[in-house]
Amino acid sequence: MSAERLDYTDEVAEATTSLYERLRKQYSPERWQTLAPYIHEINRLKKEKNAVVLAHNYMTPDVFYGVGDVMGDSLMLAQKAAQSDADIIIQCGVHFMAETSKILCPDKKVIIPDMEAGCSLAESITGADVRKLKADHPGIPIVSYVNTSAEVKAESDVCCTSSNALKIVNALGREGHNTVIMTPDKYLAQNVAAETDVKVIIWDGTCMVHERFTAEDVKKMRADHPGIFVLAHPECPPEVMAQADYAGSTAQMDDYIKEHQPKMAVLYTECSMSDNIAAANPEVEMIGTCQMCPHMKRITLPKILKALQSGGPEVEIEPEIAQRARKPIERMLELS
Ligand code: 13P
Ligand code: SF4
Repeated sequence: MSAERLDYTDEVAEATTSLYERLRKQYSPERWQTLAPYIHEINRLKKEKNAVVLAHNYMTPDVFYGVGDVMGDSLMLAQKAAQSDADIIIQCGVHFMAETSKILCPDKKVIIPDMEAGCSLAESITGADVRKLKADHPGIPIVSYVNTSAEVKAESDVCCTSSNALKIVNALGREGHNTVIMTPDKYLAQNVAAETDVKVIIWDGTCMVHERFTAEDVKKMRADHPGIFVLAHPECPPEVMAQADYAGSTAQMDDYIKEHQPKMAVLYTECSMSDNIAAANPEVEMIGTCQMCPHMKRITLPKILKALQSGGPEVEIEPEIAQRARKPIERMLELS
């Protein structure tokens, strides 16, 4: 079946009507009729091929709710990839996430629907950079954010995600390390450094989405929407974090809203996440922030269908690098 010619049949309508009830605010009926056939066909093919779709919180709602089997933050997707018994993992997220899945599941086929889905943080540092850091700071452990290439992970002592970075740095502190090096996100590192006694040496990388938020944005948001609850991702600059009511990884922010149901909320993070939260929490008025990750937005339903049909593009990692990269990820999973 060609990815370009899918019809909105009665069968598709019946299979996707209850999902559409949830996503009504996000998609017009006309738009839905173009998306639903892809959702239906992808879900059929997933079963046929024993494939699992890991969908990051920044996927658009059609992907996130339509075809995601496991949805969550970077940490959760890595944990679930490690436990999965599917033959094929379709990573709906960016390349470093697919590499993490491949490192943890070397015998599975890991497919990313668009190989160009990168990350400004992952691109800000190379394995050679980490080797130089180690030479310049002998004995100091390197804590690398999962938003890095397999080569960078292979040179690192332990990985972290935004949900466990502080925990990992403090765990190293308890092991007797009074200094660590954090790569590559300077804001995550600054935000962790503000909350730990461990000295943090910082690499100068940023997320092209979160670096755009300013304290002024938050102040204006509060002035325009009195009483609004402000959540921020730790990739935001410290002055934005200082203005937030709650800070956490994408999954932690999602959990917070589910649990506390604020009347009105704003997320200083990628914009699709607000749409996904709005769909699951109809009582919460979500105010959008409109910062989009162009890499995450490369993952679309037609590309997911094509990936399932063709069995590619497949993520491959040199076995020697994959083996070395596994250790810091496993160490992180143990410490989390
Ligand atoms: P999370 O680990 O919080 O999902 O963040 C991943 C990411 O890329 C944020 O920009
Ligand atoms: Fe990378 Fe930022 Fe996009 Fe996340 S939002 S994938 S950190 S560029």
